[in-house]
Amino acid sequence: MAVCDSRVFLLSICLLVFRGLSFASQQSAQPASQPAATAPQGTASVSRSTPQQATPTEQVQKGQSLFATQCAFCHGRDAAGGESGPDLTSSELVEKDVNGNEIGPVVRSGRIDKGMPPFNFSDADLAAVVLFIHEQKTRMDSKQGRRRTVQAEDLQTGNAEEGKQYFNGAGGCAKCHSPSGDLAGVASRFRGLALLERMLYPGGRRAGPSSSPATVTVTLPSGETVTGKLAYRDEFVIGLVDSSGWYRSWFKSAVKFKVNNPLEAHSEELGKYTEESMHNVLAYLQTLR
Ligand code: HEC
Ligand code: HEC
Repeated sequence: MAVCDSRVFLLSICLLVFRGLSFASQQSAQPASQPAATAPQGTASVSRSTPQQATPTEQVQKGQSLFATQCAFCHGRDAAGGESGPDLTSSELVEKDVNGNEIGPVVRSGRIDKGMPPFNFSDADLAAVVLFIHEQKTRMDSKQGRRRTVQAEDLQTGNAEEGKQYFNGAGGCAKCHSPSGDLAGVASRFRGLALLERMLYPGGRRAGPSSSPATVTVTLPSGETVTGKLAYRDEFVIGLVDSSGWYRSWFKSAVKFKVNNPLEAHSEELGKYTEESMHNVLAYLQTLR
């Protein structure tokens, strides 16, 4: 464990040096002199590199890119908090976490009612993301004056034409949406991060059941079916508002029912976006004024 700790410590120095550069210029600009043991993959000067050392470095880089695509739009690229997700580097849960025992369950199950979607990560991907978060925590803990780094420029990098293709094709958005129908003018209603958040999480993170678009179809013992807006659900009772505006409820044990929540498609979609397709779709939506 001591070996591992010191390795993580070395890595944090690496990222301190390396990430002192702005994210945007990270790829193009390399620091002139890099500590040998901490050189990122692909750099030639790795004199002390052993396979054991290369592995966590790659893991942090993998974690970083997973984090950038899956988590950064809410938690910020540096995990220090974004528009809609808390600062993970100052989180008590992260503080307590050992090898993902606390972070893992949050990522896998989400906190759907609070705006954190669940992620279906492999163990290896999860471990990489966890390592990256701890890495960032170490880095932020040693830094004065935390700052937020969801960059406005990050939101301007998409290609609207490709976003349109994704929208109509692979993304499947056109199954439920139309640019001249429900999404007409969406970019006038929401801008920048607000539009991104809306696109990723339209239910809103504080949306209660009353604002949920879920519907339910209840089949009564007689065989009659009643469909309506899901209005109530607990352990025992299911309730809906039917087409004429009446609230009706049943004991779950007495009926069969099927809940249909169209926003589930959005949660699933979160796991499918790449950073690129997400920015492209956002760029496309920004044309819908
Ligand atoms: C759509 C926005 C969103 C995305 C995407 C997202 N999160 Fe979150 N996350 C949140 C919100 C909101 C909370 C706070 C939930 C609460 O208040 O309990 C949260 C909470 C957490 C927490 C618990 C923090 C604490 O102190 O309780 C962890 C850990 C976390 N997120 C990790 C991740 C990771 C890792 C990813 C990417 C795989 C991710 N999140 C993606 C919105 C998001
Ligand atoms: C299975 C149906 C379905 C699919 C597929 C789907 N959405 Fe949605 N989307 C919804 C529902 C339902 C809402 C919530 C509508 C509301 O609250 O007004 C919504 C809301 C939105 C909003 C917010 C609209 C507003 O006016 O607030 C945006 C933006 C959006 N979706 C974008 C997308 C994109 C981009 C895709 C494809 C990657 C997509 N959606 C795929 C069902 C879907």
